[in-house]
Amino acid sequence: MAWDRRNLLSMSQLDPADIELVLETAGRLREIGTRPVKKVPTLRGKTVVLMFYEPSTRTRSSFEVAAKRLSCDTLSISASTSSIVKGETLLDTLRNLEAMGPDLVVLRHSMAGAGDMLARRLGVGVINAGDGMHEHPTQALLDLMTIAERKGGIDGLTVAIVGDIAHSRVARSDIIGLRTMGARVRVFGPPTLLPPEVESLGVEVAGSREEAVAGADVVMALRIQRERLGEQLLPSLREYFELFSIGPQQMALAKDDAILMHPGPVNWGVELDPALMHWERSVILYQVECGVAVRMALLYLMLAGEGA
Ligand code: CP
Repeated sequence: MAWDRRNLLSMSQLDPADIELVLETAGRLREIGTRPVKKVPTLRGKTVVLMFYEPSTRTRSSFEVAAKRLSCDTLSISASTSSIVKGETLLDTLRNLEAMGPDLVVLRHSMAGAGDMLARRLGVGVINAGDGMHEHPTQALLDLMTIAERKGGIDGLTVAIVGDIAHSRVARSDIIGLRTMGARVRVFGPPTLLPPEVESLGVEVAGSREEAVAGADVVMALRIQRERLGEQLLPSLREYFELFSIGPQQMALAKDDAILMHPGPVNWGVELDPALMHWERSVILYQVECGVAVRMALLYLMLAGEGA
């Protein structure tokens, strides 16, 4: 099966065969990272613009590592050191960069739909690396890869997602991806941090943290998005930890072989108990490892067909 999408903006674009293709390609390409020389010439001559209007550690650096492993050149632009600070718009900035002949743009932006807006106006493909509270499809793909590899599949699993669902683009993309692949999803969080339409995404809303994690195969904690809490939606972080965090007691209610996930960055002592920092069934760093492989797969699928 071939990849025929110019853009990756939302997990809702992908059917199970697309997701399987990305995960299978990522599984093959990850081996390059174990070689003494971690580089192949597959995307030599291609250029990707990494445009990050919001902070990032994992997504930005894993796209950079992924591109380098495939010999793809990168052009990294951050909002604070570009002419964006002089008032240049997103579209003008990208039109100017487009004039330099890149093959693909990876965009993170605080505005939901920013990637979609650019994809309609630019002549090159766009990967959404997180747009406001909307979606983060490459995070969902790396989460699916982590689950598929650690649990031997996704179909039929129960995944509990606990925390700030309302502000989480990861939650939205993960829910769409997990439902597409046949998983059952339970969510739980403070009522002020659950979006009103959450059930329409095909999830069950648990009545308590314990109900959410009971018998789950996968427990995913989400970061409190302090930068997006425009008003006082939480009593205090201390109370949040008492009532909504995941710790050893909660993991004891999940299945005996349940894994613990978090997209990062983690606020230890807020959404996760520091007692789980080095826990044997935490796959938080494995998620990061899968992130490089998944982004290599996407760059390969979106660029290698063009004569690389
Ligand atoms: N998970 C994630 O998107 O992390 P960064 O914000 O560090 O990229």
